[in-house]
Amino acid sequence: MFPRNCWYVAAISGEVPNRGILARVVCETPVAIYRTANGAPAALLDRCPHRLYPLSKGEVTDKGLQCGYHGLTFTSDGRCVAIPSQPEIPATACVRSFPVREAHGFIWLWPGEAALAETTPLPAFPTGAGYRRGLDFSCVTDTGNWGVAGPERIHIDANYMLVVDNLLDLTHAPFVHKSTFSADSVLASERIITNAGDQVYDFIAMQAPLSPALQNAYQLGDDIHDNFLETHWAPPGVMILAHGATLKGGVREDGTCVLGVNIITPETSTSCHYFWVQSVWQNKGNGIARDTWGKLTRLAFAEDEATLRNQQANLSRFGVEDLDGDVELVLKADRAIVMARRIVARKVRAEPR
Ligand code: FES
Ligand SMILES: [Fe+2]
Repeated sequence: MFPRNCWYVAAISGEVPNRGILARVVCETPVAIYRTANGAPAALLDRCPHRLYPLSKGEVTDKGLQCGYHGLTFTSDGRCVAIPSQPEIPATACVRSFPVREAHGFIWLWPGEAALAETTPLPAFPTGAGYRRGLDFSCVTDTGNWGVAGPERIHIDANYMLVVDNLLDLTHAPFVHKSTFSADSVLASERIITNAGDQVYDFIAMQAPLSPALQNAYQLGDDIHDNFLETHWAPPGVMILAHGATLKGGVREDGTCVLGVNIITPETSTSCHYFWVQSVWQNKGNGIARDTWGKLTRLAFAEDEATLRNQQANLSRFGVEDLDGDVELVLKADRAIVMARRIVARKVRAEPR
C-alpha cells in the first residue's frame, strides 16, 4: 500500500546521462526515465502503444523518445510525433507521461494524478542555524558547505515501509549492526518523539560517549559534551537522520554533524529502492569523516538489507501483506513507526482507488 499522489525519488540524477534512458519500476509502474536532447528529465510509461515494446529499449533523438521496434517517436508529454511507416498519426498513438522534477541530485517522479503535482512542493524539513541549514536537502548538492558521500542506491527485496520502520526504530542497531553502528546506548537513551502536520521528529540523546571510530573520524578531541541522533520523517519514505556531537561549552547547531538522507521509494509491494547520502557539515574532519561515514554506511546498509530481506521473506511465508493489520506485539520503541504508518494509511485512504 502506498499513496500515489506524492513525489518519489525515481533515480539519482547521474543515473540518467544526457540522451540516456533508464528503465525503472516506481510504485508498481514501469517507467522509461530519459533526458531530452536539451538535458531535461522526462518519464513515460515503459510501453509503446503500438506493440507494447519497452520504450526504455529505444533511443533519444532530437524529436523525442523513439521506440526501438518500429520507430514511433514520442515527446515528453506522451504525444506521438512520428510514425515512419505512415504519414497520419492516429489520436490513440500516445503514451502516459509522468510529472518529473530534478532537485537535490535526484529525479523525482509523481506516479499519481498529474494535475496535483504542479501545486505540490517537493518534501523538505524545517531548516535552522548550523547543520539545520541542510534539512532542505541542500546538504546533498552544496559541496561548499558539506562533505558529501553518495548519492547511492540500494535495491531491497522488502516492502518500503519495512525500511521506514527500520529507520524509525534504531534499537535494532546493537543487534543488526554489531560490526558497524553498534551502540548499546541507543537502548537506554532518552527519546523524544513528536509530530507536526504530516511529519514525525524523533530525537535521541545518546547516554554514552561517541564511539572511538567516529570521534576519530570527526577529529574531535576529548571535550565532547554530548552526542545525539535525530530523525526527520516525511511521508511516505523521506527521511533525514542527523547524527551529531557538541563540544563542551558549545551549542548543538555549531557542533559536528552528519546528515544522512534516506529516501525509500516503493518498487513493488515486496521491493523498494533505497537512496542515501551522508553529508558532513562543513566537511569537518577534512574528508576523513565523510569517507568514514560513506564506508560505514555501505557496510551497515548491507546489514539492514539482509535483515529486511529475511523479514519480508517471512512475512510472505506467513501470507502477511501488511504489518499494520497483522502485528501481534507493539513496543514502546515502535511509537514513531505507529505514528508514521497512521499518516501513510490516512494518505492512502484519501486517494480514489
Ligand atoms: S512497438 Fe513501438 S513502434 Fe512498434
Ligand atoms: Fe540499520
